[in-house]
Amino acid sequence: MTKIAVLGYGTVGSGVVEVLTKNQKIINNKAKEEIEIKYVLDLRDFPGDPIQEKIVHDFDVILKDPEVRVVVEVMGGLHPAYEFTKAALEEGKSVCTSNKELVAEFGPELIATAHANNVNYLFEASCGGGIPIIRPLNSSITADDVDEITGILNGTTNYILTEMTEKGLGYEEVLKSAQEMGYAERNPEADVEGYDAVRKLAILSSLAYGRTADYKKIYTEGITKISKDDIDYAKTLGMKIKLLATSRKTVVDGEKHCYALVSPFLIDASTPLYAVNGVYNSILVHGNMLGYAMFYGAGAGSLPTASAVVSDVVDEVRHLGRTLIFNWNPKQLDIASVENEERRFFVRVKKENLDKAKSLMNPEKIIELEGKADEAGFISERMSEKEFESRVEKFGGVISRIRIKDMTV
Ligand code: HSE
Repeated sequence: MTKIAVLGYGTVGSGVVEVLTKNQKIINNKAKEEIEIKYVLDLRDFPGDPIQEKIVHDFDVILKDPEVRVVVEVMGGLHPAYEFTKAALEEGKSVCTSNKELVAEFGPELIATAHANNVNYLFEASCGGGIPIIRPLNSSITADDVDEITGILNGTTNYILTEMTEKGLGYEEVLKSAQEMGYAERNPEADVEGYDAVRKLAILSSLAYGRTADYKKIYTEGITKISKDDIDYAKTLGMKIKLLATSRKTVVDGEKHCYALVSPFLIDASTPLYAVNGVYNSILVHGNMLGYAMFYGAGAGSLPTASAVVSDVVDEVRHLGRTLIFNWNPKQLDIASVENEERRFFVRVKKENLDKAKSLMNPEKIIELEGKADEAGFISERMSEKEFESRVEKFGGVISRIRIKDMTV
């Protein structure tokens, strides 16, 4: 029998307990070992809940108990999650987590600490909720030079954009109802500003390209400026606005570079990401032999996320005393400036600037929305971000601009 401890009895922690309880037999069969929760660490008590007999308030109880071989960190946040994780690994306990903040900030260090102590640090649930993506990237797509990751990595923003598109509502209105229904946090900043997605992109890029992508160096733009009018233009174009997290590896003079950004993009139906709606997430991975592979599923939620966490518990129980190899070097990946990336842009301009804008941007056609007599929209020719900004200055600014992701899958 292997005993484990769960740090945090919140949304994910209670899901972990539920998954391990409901699927006990199946999980034990797959692990070839009986797994038992010995402790649940939380500041609170849960009188009347069967979990209460396992609740402890002092992490040292878990740390000093040699029976506990696996620690599940689902507290979230950097501190004390970092200190608890580090101490558990140093004590010879494997740790698994859903904590993307911690993995994005300290991933290589914690993997190294785990390996120095002959244990494992796994984080399947840190990206894409219940979608298996870390293990496939690390253990399945090993025959390829992976050169692109593009995904919808945040459920909250995908839900908001989907509702705006399907119900014709404005951003603030949808956010408010999403908060009321518990789909969005009361403080939604991390989701709507793209901070959650960029951490996930950094983790996936680090694993895919083998060097550490620093999320702080990745250009990040959220969805707060997307208006109902932008959505109406997108519909007229037969496109959708999605918050994409995308990175592409290039090699210049033998050195790996990476273009990466999180931003709202217009996409059309030629990519399957177009059909990813609501709280669902999806990740496209491109390998030089594989081509594109797509991963799709519930990107958030207690049980889907817990399912991914428990899959790590099973892996750690299967590999007690053996370390799992990770292709994640602490050496920094060079994040190239987005200003040199080329793409097309959707642009809205005031009518008085339209002629000048047309002559500078070479649009294919002009779109006018009913009830919007004083403005027009168009798609620019392909150019670098730097070039785009300099041409915009010459015609007196835009009402809004949205990047376009041209994909052939
Ligand atoms: N807030 C995150 C999301 C939860 O909306 O996707 C899962 O990481």
